[in-house]
Amino acid sequence: MSMSHALNTTTFGHAMLSNFLLDPSYLNLNHGSFGTAAKPVLEAQHNYVLQQEARPDIWFRETYKTLIASTRERVSAEVGLPSADNLVLLENASAAVNAIFRSLSLKPGDIFVYFSTAYGMVKNTAAFLEIDKGIKILEVQVKVPITSTASLLDPMHEALESLSAEEQAKVRIATFSHISSVPAFIEPIKELTEIVKSINPSALVLVDAAHAIGQIPVDIPSLGPIDYYLSNAHKWLYAPKGSAFLWTNPSQIDSVRPQPSVISSENDVAGGTDYLTRFGYTGTKDFTAYLSIADSLDFRDSLEATNGKGSIIEYTNGLAKWAGDYLSSKWKTSRLSPPEFEAALFNVVLPTTDYKRATDLQTYLLNEYGIYMLALLDEPTSIVYTRLSAQIYLERDDFVKVGDLVLDFLSK
Ligand SMILES: Cc1ncc(COP(=O)(O)O)c(C=O)c1O
Repeated sequence: MSMSHALNTTTFGHAMLSNFLLDPSYLNLNHGSFGTAAKPVLEAQHNYVLQQEARPDIWFRETYKTLIASTRERVSAEVGLPSADNLVLLENASAAVNAIFRSLSLKPGDIFVYFSTAYGMVKNTAAFLEIDKGIKILEVQVKVPITSTASLLDPMHEALESLSAEEQAKVRIATFSHISSVPAFIEPIKELTEIVKSINPSALVLVDAAHAIGQIPVDIPSLGPIDYYLSNAHKWLYAPKGSAFLWTNPSQIDSVRPQPSVISSENDVAGGTDYLTRFGYTGTKDFTAYLSIADSLDFRDSLEATNGKGSIIEYTNGLAKWAGDYLSSKWKTSRLSPPEFEAALFNVVLPTTDYKRATDLQTYLLNEYGIYMLALLDEPTSIVYTRLSAQIYLERDDFVKVGDLVLDFLSK
């Protein structure tokens, strides 16, 4: 990675802001939704763009393909895979879920399973297949607050057990979130997969890990017999927007033959173009964000060379734990789960039960103080809460500040 930006590898906290483009008058307490790319990584991406535009044919016919292969290898090693043969790069979690769901040969009555906390895109894609192919959806309610692993395992087990034997045989795919979006909980993937496969061994399990890489250590082989795993690099890894990966269990590559959402001129579907080629070129576009995933791993390695291996996750998760305890105590409220269900994303109940007032608070914090803090409503319970993100460029003081401002506003 060639860098002209002076990389700052000092200790985590506000000093790290110099590695990002965040507006100095903006306090980003919601890294989770869209991430923010690191300057050295964007610079590396720009260098790729320069190469692409300087010698277009060489870039598209050779250079980017070589770089895609080395990036796939780098990412595969990062997530504990013995080889890069089953991992492809693509633009985002939505593209990955669409590719898999829409590659399944479906029959009317096939059942798609997910929790109520599944991301909207998962639900929308399933809804499309409900209309288009006549599949059925089994949405399993997650009750918040969650108190233990059983809060997630028991409802899933009960919902699948209560299906008739004929319906159980039709369970086609279950989708779990490694870390759900709102509220944010780490899900027990291995145990959930065991439940699904004990009901129907041929049911597929897709793990939507949009929030995982960079936020928690990821080791795909340790998650049990899952079939698909995908994660965004643009959220927690500091990679540019439009960078993600999809891993397909080798046993599913030939049977399901996943196709990307866009079928390109290099994808001879009738002739059986292989998985890597199908996803490797999806029409002419700027693929440089994909390649920059390797640079975001380099960036993280540089920070960890100074701060210690694993220190990014240690700092962000540690700050989240502290801030969750601090804010729930300051606001005399509670968290939505025991701390082991959270990583750098954490949920704290706001000191109001009025959702409208909470959204006014969100607007006030943004307009008056440049603070972005999400106000959220858990509809089944009417719990009003916030989901916050700890990051290497944040410090305890940031959460102390927002803790006070929330109380000031709500006391008026
Ligand atoms: C759990 C989950 N899945 C999928 C996505 C979609 O990610 P993208 O918009 O990058 O496709 C998100 C985005 O926040 C998410 O939280």
